[in-house]
Amino acid sequence: MKKRRVGVLMGGSSSERDISMMTGEGVSRALEARGHDVVRVVLGSEPVDKTIRDAKIDVAVLALHGRLGEDGCIQGMLELLGIPYTGSSVLASALAMDKLKAKEMFRLHNIPTPPYYVATEADLADLDELHGCFGFPVVVKPRSEGSSVGLTRANHLGELRKSIEVALQYDRFALVERYIKATEVHVGIFDGRVLGCIEVAPKSGFYDYAAKYTAGATDYILPPRIAPTRVRGVIHLAERAVHALGCTGAVRVDLLVTEGENEYVLEVNTLPGMTPTSLLPKIAAHAGIDYAELCEMILEGAALRSSAVAVPMASTCAIQTIVPKPKETIPVWSSPPPRLKAV
Ligand SMILES: Nc1ncnc2c1ncn2[C@@H]1O[C@H](COP(=O)(O)OP(=O)(O)OP(=O)(O)O)[C@@H](O)[C@H]1O
Ligand SMILES: [Mg+2]
Repeated sequence: MKKRRVGVLMGGSSSERDISMMTGEGVSRALEARGHDVVRVVLGSEPVDKTIRDAKIDVAVLALHGRLGEDGCIQGMLELLGIPYTGSSVLASALAMDKLKAKEMFRLHNIPTPPYYVATEADLADLDELHGCFGFPVVVKPRSEGSSVGLTRANHLGELRKSIEVALQYDRFALVERYIKATEVHVGIFDGRVLGCIEVAPKSGFYDYAAKYTAGATDYILPPRIAPTRVRGVIHLAERAVHALGCTGAVRVDLLVTEGENEYVLEVNTLPGMTPTSLLPKIAAHAGIDYAELCEMILEGAALRSSAVAVPMASTCAIQTIVPKPKETIPVWSSPPPRLKAV
């Protein structure tokens, strides 16, 4: 049987391009080592559809992060091209990447998420009024970014203005969220199966871009230093968040666990990083699944997800042939039909 050409899609135009290249290279090497016919499909300046078509791949492993990679756009293109892909559907990807819509879904499903409001450029004129009695400190982030890009903490009104301006460099909407002093726990889930969870403790106290991707900048604690009963609660909350957004494949849910009784979901990542410092491979390793096996599982989960039954593009086109022929459906009028004027 002919081997499938496995395209690992990486790069792209988001602010997380460099991270995507690292994820892509790691995944490509692991799949090659397991004997797959791997093509590195680097999305760059050329039109994306041309790059994907030219690669002549049978299946797409998505190693993209951020806008136009994790937000449903590429997923939609692959649906149209009839190429099965890894991760979540168009809708689930779009919802998870949009922090505002994801939080709205969480609230609808009674999933606790930090209190927040949205600020735009126009709000800067009357920030005092908008912020009101929301309080400090707050975390300000762009509506749709990842890797903590454009995310800062503000302790007073002056800093809030600066933080919002930073976030608005990346998005038309900034999310102002109450800062939650908590233990940070990330849960790895694969197609509804919980792989485990990890505590992250950045040495700087802030899990920013540098803390995420600099070796030695963060302590990773497995299992997390919280009571086993709370671990179960956190995992259950993560599962509910994934279910609320309808995510599939490998996901990572970011949560905050306070010293008191509260647990909050920050977000669900639908294409979690697979770099040397990334969390999902660490969670999987603790569950006895090594990096290459995890890549294999992700590849095996590739599918077309636009409908309950996967329909490749060719079959979608074939539907046209079962449309009844004109003579069967259009009555033959001997004179113009009653409500139509003759022209
Ligand atoms: N409300 C908050 N309270 C306390 N810390 C927060 C809050 N929001 C975010 N953080 C900190 O900032 C980090 C990044 O936040 P968030 O996950 O929302 O952004 P992101 O850019 O989408 O990250 P990534 O996609 O890399 O997971 C969190 O992991 C956490 O350490
Ligand atoms: Mg996060």
